[in-house]
Amino acid sequence: MRYLDHAATSHPKPAPVLAAINEWFEAFGISADRGDSHQAVEVNQRVTAARRGLGELIGVPGERVAFHSGATESLNLALRAVLRPGDTVLTTAFEHSSVVRPLRALTEERGIVTEILPPDPDFGLAPARVVTALERLRPRLFVFTHASNVTGALFDARAFCEAARANETLSLLDVSQTAGLFDIDVGADLVAGSAHKGLHAPPGLGFLTARPGLELAPQKQGGTGSAVALADHPTTWPSAFEAGTPNTPAILGLAAALAWLVAEDRDQLAARALARTQDLEDRLAAIPGVRLVGTPTGPRTPVTSFVHDDLDPAELGAMFAAADIHVRTGFHCAPWIHGHLGTAAAGTVRISPGPAVSADDIAAAAAVVAG
Ligand SMILES: Cc1ncc(COP(=O)(O)O)c(C=O)c1O
Repeated sequence: MRYLDHAATSHPKPAPVLAAINEWFEAFGISADRGDSHQAVEVNQRVTAARRGLGELIGVPGERVAFHSGATESLNLALRAVLRPGDTVLTTAFEHSSVVRPLRALTEERGIVTEILPPDPDFGLAPARVVTALERLRPRLFVFTHASNVTGALFDARAFCEAARANETLSLLDVSQTAGLFDIDVGADLVAGSAHKGLHAPPGLGFLTARPGLELAPQKQGGTGSAVALADHPTTWPSAFEAGTPNTPAILGLAAALAWLVAEDRDQLAARALARTQDLEDRLAAIPGVRLVGTPTGPRTPVTSFVHDDLDPAELGAMFAAADIHVRTGFHCAPWIHGHLGTAAAGTVRISPGPAVSADDIAAAAAVVAG
């Protein structure tokens, strides 16, 4: 199989990541912060290394990194911790269901007001429009994705966070599409993300960070391996935002993935994936009937969406499957943006190359569409 769906999850995982996961099952089997044996100490050191490494990427100390089952859980917890009854929240039309749906639920539960920034005519988000919206609304929170998982547009998160701060608005940045490939140390108050995409760690792991000094009420209560005698959930990070047995093998996999990203050079990995994306778009643009959708004119990630005048995305999906190529069709869990892209009826075909994708994989994908 040729795998071209790295915006969903990266595949294959690097050998050191697989080795670290296996080692946990074969040699450790102990959960983080649970016990004092030599093996427990070793596990804890690796978990601490994962927190520290991720914290360095984001610009926060390791103890401000909380691990969850995925970006979805991290975003839910952050939104619930920040938004109070009647608050206004600013967000963008590019958001993933992991923001769209909790906001919808909080509208029902707490009467929050959600203001959605539509895209610019070129499907970007100019900082000036973000500034205007923040100045007009002065919302409690601005939650936004660093990049569109449908079009690949990469937003100026640093400018957005600065503008939020200037208006006394908290910023919650979703780095699921950018962590591991792009700079995510951009000054957000809260950062949520996925470990299994560009970071190349296993699925079932996400993270939330909060800048030092930003204290939020815990949203889940349970075992943390610390302060066990107390009935109240701890309020110090990371325990404040963690409860229950953690996914320790995945965290050890993340520690290995972070070391691998340094050794491989993150910029090189991103450049390889972007070069394949450009090659793909050049080939697709030359095929009669193909229309690239929302293709970024500025900074971008390695994600391409397209449609065909005579074949709907589901038909194209069947053609890719017949050629043993894994791509995605439909709405990609980003329901709002399709109304702007003109793809609300059936969505798009999305191809998202990773660093290991070959020129041959791209040629084979284009050949499927060319027929
Ligand atoms: C932009 C964005 N946010 C959030 C998520 C959810 O991530 P996770 O699978 O880790 O819950 C995804 C991935 O599906 C995504 O692309």
